[in-house]
Amino acid sequence: MPVTRRQLLIGCAVTAFGLAAPAVLRRGVARAAEMAAGGRPLPRLAVLDATATNAFSLAAVAGETEFAAGVPSPTLGFNQPYLGPLVKVMTGTTVAASVENRTGRPVSVHWHGLLVPGDVDGGPHQPIAPGAVWRPALPIAQGPATLWFHTHIHGETGAQVYAGLAGVLLVTDGRDGERGLPAATGVDDLVLVLQDKRLDGDGRLVYAPGSAERMHGFLGNTAFVNGVPRPTASVPAGVVRLRLLNAANARNFDLSFDDDRSFLLVATEQGAIAAPPTLDRLRLTPGERAEILVDFGEHGAARLVSLPHAETRGTMSGGGMMHDMLPVPEVFTAPIPLADFAVDGDLPIAVRTLPASLDGAAAPPPPAVTRQFVLNDMGAMMGGGMAMGDGMAGDGGLVFAINGQPFDMGRLDLAVGADTTERWIVSGQMMGHPFHVHGARFLVESENGGPPRPENRGLKDTVFVEGEAALLVRFDHKAAAAAPFMFHCHILEHEDAGMMGQFAVA
Ligand code: C2O
Ligand code: CU
Ligand code: CU
Repeated sequence: MPVTRRQLLIGCAVTAFGLAAPAVLRRGVARAAEMAAGGRPLPRLAVLDATATNAFSLAAVAGETEFAAGVPSPTLGFNQPYLGPLVKVMTGTTVAASVENRTGRPVSVHWHGLLVPGDVDGGPHQPIAPGAVWRPALPIAQGPATLWFHTHIHGETGAQVYAGLAGVLLVTDGRDGERGLPAATGVDDLVLVLQDKRLDGDGRLVYAPGSAERMHGFLGNTAFVNGVPRPTASVPAGVVRLRLLNAANARNFDLSFDDDRSFLLVATEQGAIAAPPTLDRLRLTPGERAEILVDFGEHGAARLVSLPHAETRGTMSGGGMMHDMLPVPEVFTAPIPLADFAVDGDLPIAVRTLPASLDGAAAPPPPAVTRQFVLNDMGAMMGGGMAMGDGMAGDGGLVFAINGQPFDMGRLDLAVGADTTERWIVSGQMMGHPFHVHGARFLVESENGGPPRPENRGLKDTVFVEGEAALLVRFDHKAAAAAPFMFHCHILEHEDAGMMGQFAVA
């Protein structure tokens, strides 16, 4: 029997009430919410268009950002104080990228979702020293997709991405207009970078995960879209494409519109879905992207919200034992307003009807090998049930792992054959984990033995594993043992604490 939204909201409210957020956090919330007033226009990402030049330059810089008006916090960004531009590249070209590091600390730039060889993937094996410039040549061997890029220094990824080292990368073939898809960037084709931040009582940005927060990921108390709290986007009175990126360290966004309107899911991380499903709710977990088409002609203005998601935190399936001992500092007990959409009759309408089908990529051929991956929480296993909450004060005891092995830069976990498909059965302990694979794309074959959720039916590179998922992973790109690809949980606190492994493709 399906659960109605009302039942779900009631359930969530009760759960949230039962989980006492620390008093200091609740005070911070009230104050921060008041200071982080919404209503500003949605910032359009600066566009770095490399589709004609086949070249682009980024500089990682340190700066300051006011998350609450009048209160600057130190941040990092690419070519700007916080976050980065929208880089556009063309399918079938080779793009000369240049990344200068002016931050004074080692950073890297991983092209998340871009299918390139391991030596230009930008993971932890390709740090850029302070003052240095990295110049990878990126062969763009995939079709249109919404990708992103972010720093990936082992142990520092959480802090550096939170500080702002992330941007958006679009692969285009210039033919979206022919497909009936909105493609006017900043007009009917909008990028929304979804994040949450923790602001203290003064409105300053805080990143100081304690042991409980490393356990379930660092959650904020204020939501931001493109770096601004609850912005307003002006949209034409027609069909608008929203490219959604969850760039939060740990928060799942459970997206819907305040009027429950439906929308069309046209693409997941690795491109178009042949038979796009109509949804009225979409869960987007850290690292995931989705492209949706929303009709503002028929339905007018709306607010995008994230529903409280008790179902994704502290919910355990398959062998979990102590989930309800975890105090989750969840401070959003009502839908979180993310962005308002206002219709502007002067904006040009390019698309009035939703496409019925798209050319989605073909499914990978059948797998030759099946492997198991268990995302584990070594700290909990060692500490035992009762020790979990406060028995782990300090960060020393908290270790995450995959198949019992915490990440080690010097250990190759796996070697797979180039141009092969493998079935990866991934299961998570303690809570749901967004599982990501570099240099490969996958189809979700099943989730907990059943068919995948509708939003997991396209080609993906990141998927929320809540219980167990079987993935058909296609390896078309090579990585030497010295420059391997990563697979990891995209809760950045988990990744930094060891829930990551590495593999070669030859
Ligand atoms: Cu988005 Cu290995 O990362
Ligand atoms: Cu990646
Ligand atoms: Cu995780």
